[in-house]
Amino acid sequence: MSANEEAMNQAVDRLRRAERVAVTTGAGISAESGVPTFRGPQGLWEGQPVEKVATPSAFRKDPGLVWRFYNARRAQLKQVEPNPGHLALVELERMLGKDRFTLITQNVDGLHRRAGSERVVELHGNLAWVRCTSCSYLADRGGETLDDLPQCPRCTHLLRPHIVWFHEMLPPDQWMAAESAVHECNVLLVVGTSAVVYPAAGLIEVARQRRAAIIEVNLTSTVASDLADIALHGKSGEILPRLVARYKAG
Ligand code: OAD
Repeated sequence: MSANEEAMNQAVDRLRRAERVAVTTGAGISAESGVPTFRGPQGLWEGQPVEKVATPSAFRKDPGLVWRFYNARRAQLKQVEPNPGHLALVELERMLGKDRFTLITQNVDGLHRRAGSERVVELHGNLAWVRCTSCSYLADRGGETLDDLPQCPRCTHLLRPHIVWFHEMLPPDQWMAAESAVHECNVLLVVGTSAVVYPAAGLIEVARQRRAAIIEVNLTSTVASDLADIALHGKSGEILPRLVARYKAG
């Protein structure tokens, strides 16, 4: 039996024995849909210094530049679809039931919900949503093309993307939901993340402390690999459907 086959058997076994499962996903799960990841040679942050487009100070300095960056990403979302990795997680949620499953994503592309996942915690916001920099306006404007300096329809102040930028806090309700799911899970699946951005990456350490089994699905080893009990190397769009099919076969 190959090392990967052995790891797959162990992963299926741990999943079958789990009462509760949490999954944390990063940009890698959407890579096969055509959404660029952040790090690596073709990564978004390679051509675009983070501090120029993804910080509150960048937005204060040049909101038009920041909006052009996010509007390009919003436009790109209209051309992508969920892939078999997203769909496998929908099936896993349906088999386990919502009380036993939580999907925690760092992604802002909304593809998990579009695929059909229901219990989704979005740690870093969502590209489709915008909010006002002055009043409490918050809305899904994903279907629209926005100006490079879009105005609030209520108070005319500048809108901003509903995205968590560097140096900003995560939405407290989403963070609490993520932490409590990881506290309670017996298995944490860590899919397509380089696991270098905190606090999201810290969830893997929480799972470790709680003695949950950690199963990593990634093209390569990452800084989280040392914490993982099982590593499944390859594309999540291929590995997750295999894992879920094996789990389903009972
Ligand atoms: P990264 O770009 O840092 O990492 C993507 C990971 O996905 C890498 O470990 C790749 O090896 C892996 N990967 C790529 N293609 C894959 C595939 N087909 N199957 C499986 N794995 C694959 O993205 P994130 O870890 O999501 O935050 O980055 C975390 C945060 O950093 C993002 O949410 C974003 C960014 O700055 C904010 O914007 C706040």
